[in-house]
Amino acid sequence: MRLRSGLTAGVLTGAAATAMAVVATRDFRLRQRTVPVLRDPAVGPLRILHLSDLHLRPSHRRLPEWLRGLRGLQPNLVVVTGDIIGHPGAIDAAYRALSPFLDVPGIVVGGSHDYFPPDWHNPVRYLTEGPSRRAHDGPEMPWRDLRDRVQETGWAWPINDWVECEVAGHAVRAFGTDDAHIDRDDCTMLQQPPTGQLAILQLGVTHAPYRRVLDALTQAHCELILAGHTHGGQVCWPDGSAIVANCDVPLNLARGLGTYLTPEGQRSWLHVSAGLGTSPFTPVRVFCAPEATLLTVI
Ligand SMILES: [Fe+2]
Repeated sequence: MRLRSGLTAGVLTGAAATAMAVVATRDFRLRQRTVPVLRDPAVGPLRILHLSDLHLRPSHRRLPEWLRGLRGLQPNLVVVTGDIIGHPGAIDAAYRALSPFLDVPGIVVGGSHDYFPPDWHNPVRYLTEGPSRRAHDGPEMPWRDLRDRVQETGWAWPINDWVECEVAGHAVRAFGTDDAHIDRDDCTMLQQPPTGQLAILQLGVTHAPYRRVLDALTQAHCELILAGHTHGGQVCWPDGSAIVANCDVPLNLARGLGTYLTPEGQRSWLHVSAGLGTSPFTPVRVFCAPEATLLTVI
């Protein structure tokens, strides 16, 4: 009898934990971190709002509403590291979600889900077979419509290229790569940085934090690299650490702020966002709440 009641309690506890984990897909959190990275700390601080992996669908209401509430953070710069849309009909939803921030400078890079519709594959394969591989030669999503609309407001959408922005009256330079997860990254232009104003900060912006991209950005003196893609592991250990990263970034850097070290010993700060959404085929987050991050750069 005692065994049965213990078993029942265990099952109920497990079910409650699972339910809480599933609910966590809508339990949006704001993470805040400080990064000492400005080339001239006297001009800081700057507030960078990092959004990633929204995976928006036309029916999504709660996430755009939650994002509107972040406007009060008064960011100086917004960086969006890809997988903004998860459905070809989500361009309007994505524009609405970003609209509270379009009057401040912004930088966007694309992720594979912006380019191609989500496809079903067994999520267990992430655990057993390493990073997912997906076909990327089919019809593309209408991501160019979103790019054109945000660019009209002054946001930048670099594709394997440099951009320069004025942020709170200071020059910030960024190299934005295309998505390394589908082999669209090309860092050739990294060797040709703009020769304009002296920047107070040089960012690397990328979707999937593959080491070849992190190495190239770090070697080009991008002091702070922002990325997404990993979903922080999405299904994590109870302490929140990632089991898989769906790319070759070290697991301890699959979520949050850390230091990236190249094989030659060069360092950069790396912030990997756990993102705000999921693929419609894997709508579960376990010990890994969806998040946006406010980085205070000093
Ligand atoms: Fe994603």
